[in-house]
Amino acid sequence: MAQKDQLKWDKKYMDNAGLLMPRKPSPLLQKYMTHAPTNKALDVACGTGRNTLFLADNGFEVDALDISAVALQELSQHMKKVTDISKIHTQLIDLEQYEPPISHYGLILQSNFLVRSLISKLSEALVKNGILIIDTYMIHEENEKSPSNPDFYLHPNELKGFFGDKYEILEYKEYWNGCEETRHMRKQAIIVEKLS
Ligand SMILES: C[S@@+](CC[C@H](N)C(=O)[O-])C[C@H]1O[C@@H](n2cnc3c(N)ncnc32)[C@H](O)[C@@H]1O
Repeated sequence: MAQKDQLKWDKKYMDNAGLLMPRKPSPLLQKYMTHAPTNKALDVACGTGRNTLFLADNGFEVDALDISAVALQELSQHMKKVTDISKIHTQLIDLEQYEPPISHYGLILQSNFLVRSLISKLSEALVKNGILIIDTYMIHEENEKSPSNPDFYLHPNELKGFFGDKYEILEYKEYWNGCEETRHMRKQAIIVEKLS
């Protein structure tokens, strides 16, 4: 586990009460959830679990992974109130070292997080007709917040370059985030289906 990343994120969550407040699930997850061929889902870098909780409340069995113990602790508190706890499996993990199981998930979500080397592994972790949703920040001069490390932000058109002909792109877009997020930021999203 990269201890400095864990400390950084734990501190961020502890210093910023707003990050621990319940938030609405991703609109793209809401739109594409029903395309998933099975109810096994993976939420990478789940944070306090706005998307994990939504998936579990909609019948999915969710593996929820994050490097922050503080975020996962908060997710555990929310689970008790609203969700069948047995549907959510949290794991404290450094996603830079993560090896997901092959052909396992019907739906995978990577929201507001970027580790480029993970994308091909996540694609392989889908079952046939499984859905991968990636939706995260891009470099843009009008962003309200500049990245602590520019590697964490996408370049124009970048996500399209990760997928070969085994995958169909169901939607790709670059857009300004809405009022559901705290800062005005440019984002990039792709939704792909694994064809074989
Ligand atoms: C901006 S939050 C996004 C949370 C959630 N996906 C969402 O959309 O609401 C980014 C999350 O990535 C997690 N994270 C950062 N680096 C990580 C790593 N190397 N491994 C696992 N999780 C990591 C942080 O702890 C944090 O919860």
